[in-house]
Amino acid sequence: MSLSTLAIGTGTVAAVLIARALFTQTGSTSRTKLIPPTQERVVIVGASSGIGSELARIYAHRGAHIVIVARRESLLQQLVDELSPVAGAIHAVQGDVTLPNEVQRITRESLEALQGRVDTLILCAGIISVLPFDELAGINSTVSDSVVLPSKAQEAFEASIKIMNVNYHAPLNLTTHFLPTLTKSSSAGNIMVVSSMAGKVGAPTRAIYCASKHAAQGFFEALGMEVERTGVHVGIVSPGTVATDLRQSAVDLPKNNAASSSSSSAGPSETKPIAGTKKGAMTARACAEGIVRGSDLRQHEVIMPWFYHVSLVLQIVSPGLVRWLAKKKYGYL
Ligand SMILES: NC(=O)c1ccc[n+]([C@@H]2O[C@H](COP(=O)([O-])OP(=O)(O)OC[C@H]3O[C@@H](n4cnc5c(N)ncnc54)[C@H](OP(=O)(O)O)[C@@H]3O)[C@@H](O)[C@H]2O)c1
Repeated sequence: MSLSTLAIGTGTVAAVLIARALFTQTGSTSRTKLIPPTQERVVIVGASSGIGSELARIYAHRGAHIVIVARRESLLQQLVDELSPVAGAIHAVQGDVTLPNEVQRITRESLEALQGRVDTLILCAGIISVLPFDELAGINSTVSDSVVLPSKAQEAFEASIKIMNVNYHAPLNLTTHFLPTLTKSSSAGNIMVVSSMAGKVGAPTRAIYCASKHAAQGFFEALGMEVERTGVHVGIVSPGTVATDLRQSAVDLPKNNAASSSSSSAGPSETKPIAGTKKGAMTARACAEGIVRGSDLRQHEVIMPWFYHVSLVLQIVSPGLVRWLAKKKYGYL
């Protein structure tokens, strides 16, 4: 490669990075001037563990009025006990966000707890998949029969529906339910959706997870443009790997097998290791801080850690390199 090609390449990456930085953020004025932290009404969906529980801690220590939502009631109660002394108010609503009648009840109970006002809806509930798709679907082309059918097509189809329900349909349905009150009751309503880098770039062994996050990304990007004129802001958060127990929720592994992988991904002894290193993962706390900052600054896009901005630029400039990096991370080279 000649020096001039290198200079042009570097210049292009720098220019695109600057353009991204300029257009990602809507402004430097903090929304906290419009809605003081102690008056902010926040609903956090998926708050029983990981990133969501850290979000609850941050908002509670800012004195906000919070509703926390998830299925595991005992974890929600522990958070209420921990955060009641510091939060403006904290209320737990137990429920499964994939069930339409539960979403209605969750919305009603949340809004009652917040006296009919909500400023910030954070959609953080999510589940993952960790198997190569051929393994999930039982696709084996080495058998000698002339007609070969997958042995687990139904399982693959059901896993896909399950992950789409949690990662795409539930955020859509919750948004539908909260949007009227968010628009009416807040001077600067925010919806923050916790997507993933998997919503921007494909990765081997995460096919149906990537699909669900790409779907959410598309929906919320479009919705954000539609609702902007009503004063509601939509921010999409795309973290890289975060050190949480998300892998335990894997739709394609038996519950008790699903990766207790805290480091480089080795699961329990009887299971195969789960692909995808967690080395260098950001903490749930750091991720939650980035989300709160993104909400305060009303950023359309929150990419974490920062160097993933580079991979998004590379996706345009050098997609082959991004594919190589993704394959490397998940052991597909
Ligand atoms: N960890 C990462 O590497 C990473 C990277 C990028 C993006 N993300 C995204 O970050 C979000 C939070 O994940 P996390 O890493 O913090 O994992 P986590 O600790 O497993 O949190 C997932 C949360 O979602 C809730 N949830 C799942 N299914 C639900 C349902 N049907 N109804 C209600 N709540 C439900 C869980 O609560 P219950 O089980 O109690 O219901 C839990 O509070 C997810 O959307 C994930 O895709 C994570």
